[in-house]
Amino acid sequence: MADRVASHYSENLGLANAIADKLRSAGKDLAKLTTADLAAVDEFHIRGRKATLELGEKMNLSAGSHVLDIGSGLGGPARTLAETFGCRVTGIDLTQAFCDAATAMSAWVGLGGRVSFKQGDATNLPFGNQTFDAAMTIHVAMNIAAKDKMYAEARRVLKSGGVFAVYDVLQGEGGEVLYPVPWARDPSISHLATPDEMKNLLAGAGFKLVDVQDSTEESQSFFERMTSQMAKTGVSPVIWQLFLGEDFPEMARNQVRNVTERRIRTVSFICLA
Ligand SMILES: C[S@@+](CC[C@H](N)C(=O)[O-])C[C@H]1O[C@@H](n2cnc3c(N)ncnc32)[C@H](O)[C@@H]1O
Repeated sequence: MADRVASHYSENLGLANAIADKLRSAGKDLAKLTTADLAAVDEFHIRGRKATLELGEKMNLSAGSHVLDIGSGLGGPARTLAETFGCRVTGIDLTQAFCDAATAMSAWVGLGGRVSFKQGDATNLPFGNQTFDAAMTIHVAMNIAAKDKMYAEARRVLKSGGVFAVYDVLQGEGGEVLYPVPWARDPSISHLATPDEMKNLLAGAGFKLVDVQDSTEESQSFFERMTSQMAKTGVSPVIWQLFLGEDFPEMARNQVRNVTERRIRTVSFICLA
């Protein structure tokens, strides 16, 4: 299962070079890159950097905080938090190619000293008990069947009272998901929880739930904008196509239907360890 999830995302070990080429051809000077220049590439979730900042605002972060990002992808959310709040972020991700690219991209924007990335599995975190002040996970659990283990691990590595922020794609009331979608080409690696199941899972792991936000309507607008721009220009406004392949436009079109018909919902949960 873990191998199939990692190869769904990328087997491209030269991902950072491929991203650098795309940025150069879009007219960016790599020596002067900012995190905002990378946001269309490295915030690999619905509603992008805005959603990361919304979550970060609720995490009580300061320069002294050490944050864990579970399923850190290309490292965009980790860099956004490190830059905005001055904190340190450790990312963990199943896909080695993403960890390598995340490390390279952090050096491009001068954040290599405050963020680091390690290959690993969210259901078996390679960290001691009570290591982190806060933790987040954005659009990762859709690929994880053993969510009870994932949240128990998050609880274990958090210090008492630490914030755990979750922003995920959930199963909606509108029926089965239409595939392919950005996290799966078919149902075999897709495991969506409903909003009620999520509340039970988080409570079952020992978290106290303090805030729940449903952003489904805004997610619908996000995909409508993306697909109308793709129809006009023929080019994806984000370059996720680079690692998701040629079926990305179909994934984006399916997501418009999935979210409009409420087959999926996007929801954030803020909890305390
Ligand atoms: C849609 S991406 C989101 C990446 C990042 N959180 C972001 O928002 O930009 C999903 C990520 O989850 C990772 N992932 C999936 N299953 C995982 C697991 N069991 N443990 C750690 N990472 C996992 C994938 O490798 C991928 O990088």
